[in-house]
Amino acid sequence: MKKLLALLLCLVMLISFAACAVEEGSSDENDDAQNEEQTELSSVEQIKQSGKLRLGTSADYPPFEYHMDVDGQDTIVGFDIEMGKLIAEELGVELEITDMAFDALLISLQQGKFDLVAAGVTYSPERYGLFSDPYYVEGQAVLIRTEDLDTYTTAESLSGCTVGAQKGTVQAELAANMAQDVTCLELVKFPDLVTELKQDKIEAIVVDYVVAEDYLTAHDDLAISDIVLEDGQVNKCVVAQEGNQELIDVVNSVIAQGLADGSFDSLMQQAKENAQYEKPKS
Ligand code: ARG
Repeated sequence: MKKLLALLLCLVMLISFAACAVEEGSSDENDDAQNEEQTELSSVEQIKQSGKLRLGTSADYPPFEYHMDVDGQDTIVGFDIEMGKLIAEELGVELEITDMAFDALLISLQQGKFDLVAAGVTYSPERYGLFSDPYYVEGQAVLIRTEDLDTYTTAESLSGCTVGAQKGTVQAELAANMAQDVTCLELVKFPDLVTELKQDKIEAIVVDYVVAEDYLTAHDDLAISDIVLEDGQVNKCVVAQEGNQELIDVVNSVIAQGLADGSFDSLMQQAKENAQYEKPKS
């Protein structure tokens, strides 16, 4: 009887050991599959085979990217889109645009939802992604109401105030740290911050200079303050998945060409001009 029990026990142990082994094996396989998914790169060859370059953007940021009525059709236009078309052309494929909240772009790139992000993205070593050479270099502006031009002349003058910035941007961090006791209001869509400012709900917005300038053309009641924020984060770059040097090399060659032959200048000029007509005049 004892012998039988011991035998049974052995058997049970053996079976559970085998089960463990199987479990381990399968979880290893899962891990491998997951890793593969995460590190799978949209290589240049894959993009060419698929016939399209998938570009992620956040079309609320003129002149980089914004919505415009083109022949009765709501269309995403702007400098980054034109640059995206040039990159797609270089690869011999179509450009496919995905529009989403700015703060979701780099995580979606990491998940492989698109091949590149072009959204006026400022280089920061803390951000995910492989950054291209800069295609546009300019600092920040502090946008205020024109009537406050003499009140807010230094960063310290905004102490105790609420300052707006788009969620997930480098400006959100800057705004929060620009002076003592500044409360930063972070909103997902940039134009909503302009509405808040015009309605006296916030005192200022920190934003990329060229975007602030763009808003001035249609809003007399807004102005760029004299406040200078020194932060060194000024380079706007295209972003690819980490490790995708092959694709960034193509992007960099398009950028080098566009900067050298002046075509980027005229594309930016065109994007600025078009954006003026699109701005709500209220
Ligand atoms: N340059 C800033 C950053 O990278 C803001 C970019 C916002 N872009 C946009 N398309 N809304 O943090």
